[in-house]
Amino acid sequence: MTIIKTYPNLEVLSAAAAELFAEKSCQAVEKKGRCNVVLAGGETPRRTYELLAEKPYCHTIPWQNVHFYWSDERCVPSDNSLSNQNMARQSLLDHVPIPEANIHPIVYENSPSMAAEEYEKILQSTFKKHTPQFDVVFLGLGDNGHTASLFPGTDALIIRDHWVRPVYVAEQQLYRVTLTPPILNQAASVIFLVTGSTKAHVIKEVIEGPRESIRLPAQSIQPVHGELYWLLDHEAAALLNLETKYL
Ligand code: 6PG
Repeated sequence: MTIIKTYPNLEVLSAAAAELFAEKSCQAVEKKGRCNVVLAGGETPRRTYELLAEKPYCHTIPWQNVHFYWSDERCVPSDNSLSNQNMARQSLLDHVPIPEANIHPIVYENSPSMAAEEYEKILQSTFKKHTPQFDVVFLGLGDNGHTASLFPGTDALIIRDHWVRPVYVAEQQLYRVTLTPPILNQAASVIFLVTGSTKAHVIKEVIEGPRESIRLPAQSIQPVHGELYWLLDHEAAALLNLETKYL
């Protein structure tokens, strides 16, 4: 099921995203005693993470039962400003009572493929070889249609026998490590956070356009049994047809 919600600006969208996360995480912990979350990188989710570190969420979310993973990581040192782990720690994880054992970053030392292999082992031990079902997956959207580090035309988009892959992003001259569609699409709730007029065209193509998931990787995110949320600000949603906006 796809749910599209639009908001006046990033602040209101982030408040809604924080509330949705609180609802989903409490439900998961109540149901199975644990909530497995995938954090998105980039800048858009930062405000949502900051709000989750503030009242009421810093007190109401059962942090000791929540485990954090990442959708992708840039192959840089963890203290680098480009690191998605660094952003999540600075905006959220360093400010809530979460055990370090509940934080599962993608660790890059000197080999992107080693980092991917090691992360796949972490996921396999988490899910004990079962199909991994994350409870909440946050994702962003690049203006070229990428999500996580699933970039147009890269083989991570067509891989079916790995949950984690290394990717070289030529336009950034940067290696990354990314979760792949098969694992992301098992999630119970996938939540895209997208803002700004620069994303309006790609949002229209991804949501309303024909299926071209190699050119528009975000289209490969189709939860098998779960919910797909698009939380958009009015600028990002500006080109959508009215009936789409209120799916
Ligand atoms: C990353 C993200 C990436 C991001 C988009 C949108 O590591 O860069 O995983 O997929 O979500 O590029 O980034 P912004 O939120 O900064 O626009």
